[in-house]
Amino acid sequence: MKKIITYGTFDLIHAGHISLLRRAKELGDHLIVGISTDDFNNIKNKKAYHTFEDRKIILEAIRYVDMVIPEYTWKQKFEDIKKYEVDVFVMGDDWKSKFDSLKNLCEVVYLPRTEGISTSEIKKGISRVDK
Ligand code: CTP
Repeated sequence: MKKIITYGTFDLIHAGHISLLRRAKELGDHLIVGISTDDFNNIKNKKAYHTFEDRKIILEAIRYVDMVIPEYTWKQKFEDIKKYEVDVFVMGDDWKSKFDSLKNLCEVVYLPRTEGISTSEIKKGISRVDK
């Protein structure tokens, strides 16, 4: 069984997230998604609208996702890849070359990001919607 892993915050799920997850799953048989915990988001100066628990529930309902794990630190990717015997590490190409050090452990693939959508843009858009 070919195992794929990817990471992110995955807050306010949008078509760009789904496209990334679909293409990641197509690279193998089993897709693991590491989602940042609320504490890890604080470290990254990021604030998710949905809690970790809710983001996990939502991601687990997506057909391309087989397993959701918490991401606590930047460094744990090495451990996860070994622990889950991952074959391919996938990220959107906004992260291009940032994780090349993982190439010692598995294949590393950067997929093209979907243009024109992001959680940050949705948050800005919602604040502009008429009440
Ligand atoms: N992603 C993508 N296309 C988009 C937005 C995100 O392919 N339009 C990918 C990212 O490259 C990453 C994964 O989805 O591999 C999770 O990204 P995340 O940072 O959680 O989503 P964003 O919408 O980029 O959130 P933000 O605006 O808060 O950075």
